[in-house]
Amino acid sequence: MKTKINQLQEKTKSWRALEHHQKLMRDVRLKDLFADDPHRFKKFSLQVGDLLFDFSKQRVISQSLEKLCSLAEEHALEQERSALFLGRSINSSENRPALHTALRDPSKTPILVNGEDIKPLIQAVLQKMEIFSEKLRTGEYLGATGQLVTDVLLLGIGGSFLGPQLVTRALKPFQQSKISLHFVSNVDGESLNNALKAVNPHQTLCLINSKSFTTPETLLNAESVKKWYQAAFQIESKVNDHLFAVTAKPEKALSFGIPKDNIFEFWEWVGGRYSIWSSVGLPVAILLGMEHFRAFLNGAYKIDHHFQSAPLAENMPVLMALLGIWNINFWHYFTLAIIPYCDGLSDFPAYLQQLEMESNGKRVNKAGELLTYATAPTIWGGVGCNGQHAYMQWLHQGPLIAPIDFLVGVKSTETAFPEQQKFLMANCFSQSKALMEGTLLKDNPETLNNAAYCPGNRPSNTLLYPSLTPEILGSLIALYEHKVFVQGVIWNINSFDQWGVELGKTLVKSLLPQLDKQQILGQNDTSTEGLISFYHAHK
Ligand code: F6P
Repeated sequence: MKTKINQLQEKTKSWRALEHHQKLMRDVRLKDLFADDPHRFKKFSLQVGDLLFDFSKQRVISQSLEKLCSLAEEHALEQERSALFLGRSINSSENRPALHTALRDPSKTPILVNGEDIKPLIQAVLQKMEIFSEKLRTGEYLGATGQLVTDVLLLGIGGSFLGPQLVTRALKPFQQSKISLHFVSNVDGESLNNALKAVNPHQTLCLINSKSFTTPETLLNAESVKKWYQAAFQIESKVNDHLFAVTAKPEKALSFGIPKDNIFEFWEWVGGRYSIWSSVGLPVAILLGMEHFRAFLNGAYKIDHHFQSAPLAENMPVLMALLGIWNINFWHYFTLAIIPYCDGLSDFPAYLQQLEMESNGKRVNKAGELLTYATAPTIWGGVGCNGQHAYMQWLHQGPLIAPIDFLVGVKSTETAFPEQQKFLMANCFSQSKALMEGTLLKDNPETLNNAAYCPGNRPSNTLLYPSLTPEILGSLIALYEHKVFVQGVIWNINSFDQWGVELGKTLVKSLLPQLDKQQILGQNDTSTEGLISFYHAHK
């Protein structure tokens, strides 16, 4: 009888075909592929709307893509995709659907969750967001003591923070409001202190973003902010008037003291890291206006439509996912660098860290069996030109190879400095070119061992778009969401739970009281005891 491990190590036909194919590709040089085929870019790039995806600098030929598409078919990708959009309970460990796509679907076609059509719920919350954000922006909505609201303080972490931060910063040129938005995410008292010092409680509203409304970091900060308001207002009702919640647990927000009208609901079937399309996007509506928030939703919807309708071989998120699997599982390139060449997307690597690593950083498959292959890559990166003067050396010459996603807009949104923009583009294109072709050896073959030699043949994608508009940003995020989904299907894992973060949360509950005591109780390992002793000695 076979052991469980042996059964798992049996590879599918497509997987074995890809392993064999990778061996044949090992010595193939990208530079030669380009030299041999003048149509390579045309064959290995794709445009959806205004978004161009160039994957011609990946280590693939046509047969590679055919084999990768067979792998997707073998995993019934099309059926799984339907299950996602139809709202089947694909989050099996929590027995719920993952319906972020419904949030950006403007059609009235019903989608049922527990027998209830969720479309009217979505529209009602969008409308509430619209009315509130409009009143706030126009100054019709005043603080409890009759003063104009000038600042919004957002408390939240993970998906309740990264999305609002990314989108409001990336789309700053579209900001319509004079309101300043401040984020406190970590429980670093210094950050909270700095944020509170910068604002006036009479003119500041606090938005508590928490799907579960139990996240200790967010709630601890929220309690402190409540005390700060209490000190300023003395009257409880005025304090509460300044508190707002974005949550899937309205009853918990109510017991915190937040008035019903100040609660913007979303639902269990929206994963935290997929929640920017819900009322979690309220700060976007406040700063940019609902029109721009809707354009952002529309950009995502366009990708949803493309993902559902395009054949696998011409499907942008599917190809992105398959190329990722090719790099991770067959070339063993275990990281992915996200390098946007515009400061507006400087938060994109952090956003994708949660999206990719929390979704697909899993060790067992859907049947609870140990995986024998790698899943989500380590996501890292940062803005382009800055990276060229920091970590890009590692990418060009380090012995480890990291595939890269370059992202860049042709025009900056406010075209005040066209020379800068041209220079930025030239740098972005030069980096992927240099990584692909390396140092040209024709004249000097002996330079191979020279410190200046760059080996090249290093894979990258480039995502190019006219400029970073709300619609384009919506499309970009949705593109990566579906890429993550497709990879989860092929790795046969649940991309929508995150049990791994629970252990740390549980331990903190038992460790916290020990920081109040002078005596070490000897209940920890020596390292943890040593760290606690140091804490007591220096607090
Ligand atoms: O990190 C775990 C996590 O549950 C994320 O998935 C989520 O985005 C984050 O915590 C914040 O959770 P909440 O919105 O419930 O406060």
